[in-house]
Amino acid sequence: MNDLFLREARGEATERRPVWMMRQAGRYLAEYRAVRAKVDFLTLCRTPELVAEVSLQPVRLVGVDAAIFFADILLPLDAMGAGLRFVKGDGPSFEHPVRRREEIGNLRTPDVGASLGYVFEAVAAVRREIADLPEPVPLIGFGGTPWTLAAYLVEGGGSQGFPRLLEWSYRDPEGLSRLLDLITEVSIEYLEGQIEAGAQAIQLFDTWAGLLDLERWRRFSMPGVVRIFEALAGRPGKGGRGVPLIFFAKGAGHLLEALRDLPCQVLSVDWRQPLSEVRKIVGPGKVLQGNLDPAALLGPIPEIERLTARLLEEGAGGSHIVNLGHGIFKTTPPDHARAFVAAVQRLSARPA
Ligand code: CP3
Repeated sequence: MNDLFLREARGEATERRPVWMMRQAGRYLAEYRAVRAKVDFLTLCRTPELVAEVSLQPVRLVGVDAAIFFADILLPLDAMGAGLRFVKGDGPSFEHPVRRREEIGNLRTPDVGASLGYVFEAVAAVRREIADLPEPVPLIGFGGTPWTLAAYLVEGGGSQGFPRLLEWSYRDPEGLSRLLDLITEVSIEYLEGQIEAGAQAIQLFDTWAGLLDLERWRRFSMPGVVRIFEALAGRPGKGGRGVPLIFFAKGAGHLLEALRDLPCQVLSVDWRQPLSEVRKIVGPGKVLQGNLDPAALLGPIPEIERLTARLLEEGAGGSHIVNLGHGIFKTTPPDHARAFVAAVQRLSARPA
């Protein structure tokens, strides 16, 4: 078993640094597009055998050291009755957005096992398929933070600046906090279900943390994140040990002093700051994950290798899981992704 990812996440000694990529199962792979040509996105998420197939594609084809199961952060909002749809080219949209406190009652508190059981079945299916690999790798589970999930739910889909969300946050902060609390409760059950089904680490995505200044991030995003992590901390996974918890925020350099205190092992940072600078602010207590600019994978392979070597130097001062600073672009040539992964595996060997 290749357990480099789990050992690095726990801050243990490893022979070399592990590497995986956010959004590693996806449209940059022709093999993924071939599956998507047959089924729409939500059907794919609801079909465990297909989830297992696409989740393992980056392990088999790119050689990453961890798998992340295929799903989406927005699925729990669908279970809450918001009516999630993916329209080709337009991204996600919700039939029933929630924009004021009176509308929170339109959501239901779902029976998570019944309405999201398909995700847990998919997690178990991915674990079974991983066990058959010549060299099994750990499986990462994930969810969005309540703040980032609320961003899509309030807006009714993706948005440039999320003006409706921000308007609510200034007009009726307590009402918005009630919505965030409700999403937090559902998220805890959803993530516990993933761990019970076999997820070996959990990553929370706070993609829209950067909409908030430090004080407002502490007010709106941090409470849900802390509650989720505290609920999951020490929950033994199938292997009996607590699962490592990872927090990713985008555009959050100004939040690092707060992120340092989160009850999680790993901080995943975007590409905007060198890891050595991040390390100075967060100190030795966190494992860092990241942070090659995903756009760098669009450039020529020798340049990717040079930037990867530089990234490894930047991260050398502590435990480091190599990743991109955000999701891989769908126009990335698969050869370039492979060159990145291979460079990490070749260049990061630690003397015994
Ligand atoms: O490989 C993996 O990382 C696992 C699967 C995964 C997906 N989405 C699949 C997906 C993960 C971890 C996510 C997380 C996610 N989803 C985030 C947080 C990470 C980030 O990018 O900041 C967010 C904000 C979403 C919401 C979402 N889902 C959007 C905005 C979109 C449309 C944009 C786009 O890229 O098309 C999706 C759809 C989606 N989720 C796709 C994939 C592979 C593309 C769907 C397709 O195949 O057509």
